[in-house]
Amino acid sequence: MLPDWFSKWNRENPTDVERPAIIFGAVGVAVIAVIALIVLGQPFATASLQTGPRGTGMEVVEFKSDLAKPDPTIELFLSSTSDPVVPTGSEQTAGAARENVPPGLENLTIENYDRLLAAMRAWTGIPDLFDDAESYQTAVGHVMITMTRNINENWDGHVNANKEVGVTCFTCHRGEPVPSEVWFKATPVSKATEGWSAVQNRTTPLSSFTSLPSDALETFLLDYGTIGVHDFESRVAGIPGKDDYPGIQHAERTYALMNYVANSLGVNCTFCHNTRAFYDGSQVTPQWGTESLGIQMVQEINNEYLVPLEGLLPEERLGPVHQDAPKAACKTCHKGYQQPLQGTNVIGDWPELATSEAPEYGN
Ligand code: HEC
Ligand code: HEC
Ligand code: HEC
Repeated sequence: MLPDWFSKWNRENPTDVERPAIIFGAVGVAVIAVIALIVLGQPFATASLQTGPRGTGMEVVEFKSDLAKPDPTIELFLSSTSDPVVPTGSEQTAGAARENVPPGLENLTIENYDRLLAAMRAWTGIPDLFDDAESYQTAVGHVMITMTRNINENWDGHVNANKEVGVTCFTCHRGEPVPSEVWFKATPVSKATEGWSAVQNRTTPLSSFTSLPSDALETFLLDYGTIGVHDFESRVAGIPGKDDYPGIQHAERTYALMNYVANSLGVNCTFCHNTRAFYDGSQVTPQWGTESLGIQMVQEINNEYLVPLEGLLPEERLGPVHQDAPKAACKTCHKGYQQPLQGTNVIGDWPELATSEAPEYGN
């Protein structure tokens, strides 16, 4: 097909085209990759939040792409919130003008009561909440109002640790009647399944899908168990796990809790600890203290408010193994974020839920 003179010339002047092609191709790809990185940005770029002194490696590393995506439920909250109406003193109260007003809200003005009721319905996804006085949801809702006020009033060292943030029904419920990330007891039910393996090596969310014990939340966030791995006492005098010496499984349970905590907040261990000395309370960050308060707060939420709901809730709401009421923990509010709703102030517009006393309206 090619002219004869060309085939002849080609035969007499052999040239290595492969090597230049490879070099040219490789340089070309590299140039295109660099241009793509400059134009499109590094997809795996990270940002580090320094949490401790320099040189200790105490930092939380996150992908910038994740940080750029806000929690999508923030928008849902902002669309359900409204400004409080400062009372002039001459309005009718909800207790006089409305029916089935939950205890503690009777003295609100009609306007503020109506907006709070609409918000609570949106936040829990129950459009007729408090309409039916006989419904279990009404009875549960009454407990919830008291609980929410108690959290804001008495645990503000946690829920307002950095700035005014607070909690409302939305912090846990996010538009659903049953909040996500609630938990149930998963301890063995029969004598035959008691013991070491029965709470371990089970792929449950309670153990963050590790082989660690699944009863950490129950032990520490319900039953007031002592969190701890080691101290500097000699172990020769007794047997670990017996004679009041903490056992190995107790250490594993502590790690199970810490895994759960880190996952609930989307942080790693160095957010709170200097990992060279987990035991040393003088090498921790301020967030360690916020967590300590959080643990006590969750113990109270579970024992004072949620566990007693057991008798009120219908069967399909109860736990699969023990028929126990759903319980809350860190992730029920935090949902994987360092601060719930990424630190959005949810209580500012809702003084009615901030205190068990008469709400204070700004002016
Ligand atoms: C600390 C988290 C938390 C907060 C804050 C919270 N709730 Fe709940 N709520 C729960 C849990 C856990 C349940 C139990 C889930 C169930 O019913 O199975 C629940 C259940 C309910 C139910 C029963 C739903 C059903 O169909 O079983 C109602 C109604 C309710 N909450 C209303 C409210 C209202 C109103 C507020 C705000 C005043 C509120 N909750 C604040 C955690 C919370
Ligand atoms: C949000 C803060 C926070 C994060 C994140 C965190 N911890 Fe903790 N950790 C604490 C607090 C607070 C305690 C002490 C609790 C108590 O004694 O009541 C503790 C206790 C411990 C203990 C027991 C120390 C002792 O005295 O024996 C160990 C071990 C531990 N954490 C390991 C970890 C590991 C591993 C991770 C990461 C998977 C982690 N922690 C993540 C706050 C945190
Ligand atoms: C009732 C809802 C709720 C529960 C349950 C809860 N938290 Fe929080 N937590 C909050 C709110 C709201 C804030 C934001 C406070 C602020 O930034 O002012 C917060 C803040 C924190 C902070 C500080 C974060 C920072 O950036 O400084 C830590 C640490 C924390 N929580 C840990 C925990 C742990 C651990 C648990 C479980 C033992 C827990 N929380 C349970 C609502 C909750």
